Amino acid sequence: MKKVITYGTFDLFHIGHLEILRRAKELGDYLVVAISTDEFNKIEKDKVCTIPYSNRAAIVAAIKYVDEVIPEEGWDQKKTDIVDHSIDVFVIGDDWEGKFDFLKEVGSSVVYLPRTPEVSSTKLKKLISKEY
Ligand code: CTP
Repeated sequence: MKKVITYGTFDLFHIGHLEILRRAKELGDYLVVAISTDEFNKIEKDKVCTIPYSNRAAIVAAIKYVDEVIPEEGWDQKKTDIVDHSIDVFVIGDDWEGKFDFLKEVGSSVVYLPRTPEVSSTKLKKLISKEY
């Protein structure tokens, strides 16, 4: 069985998120999604999540392309996740192009997929804050 992993915050779930999960699943048979926790976002990424981790994880877990959700709690866990979950393919959007090539060292391939244009959680947050 070919196993794929991807990472993200998936705040205010949108079509770009759905599309990356759909295309990630096409690269294998089993898709693991690591979702960054509220603490990791706040402390390491300087991002405040609109939707709490438990809800973001439940939404992503319900997507038909997703087989397993795990928490992302730090920048350094990717190599360990790849080994522990016997991952064959690491995939992420091309906003991260080149940044994770080092993961090939632990035996997975690394794929950067083009982002879906014109949508992001940040844009949605801005729209919502204007609206209310
Ligand atoms: N993604 C995508 N197309 C988009 C937005 C996101 O393919 N329009 C991908 C990202 O490249 C990443 C995954 O979805 O692989 C999760 O991204 P995330 O950072 O959670 O979403 P963004 O909308 O980019 O969030 P933000 O605006 O806070 O950066």
